Amino acid sequence: KRPAGAPDKALAKPVTKVGVIGAGLMASQFALLFVRRLRVPVVITDLDQARVDKGVAYIHDEIGALLGKGRISPDEANRLKALVTGTTDKALFADADWVIEAVFEELGVKQDVFAEIEKHISPEAVLATNTSSLSVEQIGAKLEHPERLVGFHFFNPVAVMPLIEVVHTPHTDEATLSTAMVTAAKLRKNAVITRDTPGFVVNRILAKLLGEAMHAVETGTPFEVVDGAIAPFGLPMTPFELLELVGLTVGAHVLDTHHAAFPDRFYGSPALHKLADYGHVLERDSKGRVKGFDKGAVKLV
Ligand code: 3HC
Repeated sequence: KRPAGAPDKALAKPVTKVGVIGAGLMASQFALLFVRRLRVPVVITDLDQARVDKGVAYIHDEIGALLGKGRISPDEANRLKALVTGTTDKALFADADWVIEAVFEELGVKQDVFAEIEKHISPEAVLATNTSSLSVEQIGAKLEHPERLVGFHFFNPVAVMPLIEVVHTPHTDEATLSTAMVTAAKLRKNAVITRDTPGFVVNRILAKLLGEAMHAVETGTPFEVVDGAIAPFGLPMTPFELLELVGLTVGAHVLDTHHAAFPDRFYGSPALHKLADYGHVLERDSKGRVKGFDKGAVKLV
């Protein structure tokens, strides 16, 4: 057991270059946050150049949007864009001192990603995973230096949601934890230190809400009744809006992970997998506003 409370800030290592593994939407969102708040070079990689280019294009578009809203100057926009490099060459990670991954939520994939990146980076570099609900300790099972691995879990949309869960394993050392806490503060997020349990804190609670919403529709309550009943409780999004925001595939994975860990307490929804394959639940207008539930999706449940 680590001592309670935050680690000593003096132990934090400097972060002068960030490596991001995965160029999907979540990774691109936090890559932008790193470049904007830390103002250090950020290298982003993925399986192929097309994925990398898409991630970099997203970051450039978002920097353009910040410029359009008058939040940053044209000079600043150019400086931020110049700090972002997309590459498939892991050698560019060699001098990164903070490497974070957000690749596909499969344990073996994440283990291999870290084992591979460890060959390219210094033993001092901190490794972070943005996993939603896998065990951080198991993700680091193939590492030579598991003491520098920490969970660093962002929430969607990254630019807006104020929280980061910092997850320690039994191996994570205090310098790594301190670096994570100081980095979260520089990103202007509130950080909480959590144990390495399925779903950490937030997804564990969300898995209850979303799992029960799915169970209710699967046992005959119409989608609109479930969402409509919850809406007046003041949550910013209804369960099905939230499932679409996080991604139906990610949502299904989160429910499955909780069901596997605590079968008597969490529902793993078979219908959510069908909806994930179908692609969406909600019907939206051309501006993305919710109009109701998609008829094809409703028939699948
Ligand atoms: N991406 C980037 N920025 C976004 C965004 C998105 N998808 N959606 C909204 N924003 C930004 C807007 O651009 C706007 O920024 P600005 O103030 O700079 O112009 C700001 O957020 C507010 O947008 P809106 O006026 O549209 O605000 P709303 O009042 O509709 O709020 C919301 C939008 C903040 C997304 C709100 O609906 C909300 O809090 N929803 C719940 C989100 C949530 O619970 N997330 C956690 C999901 S769990 C998770 O991610 C964990 C994972 O492991 C599964």
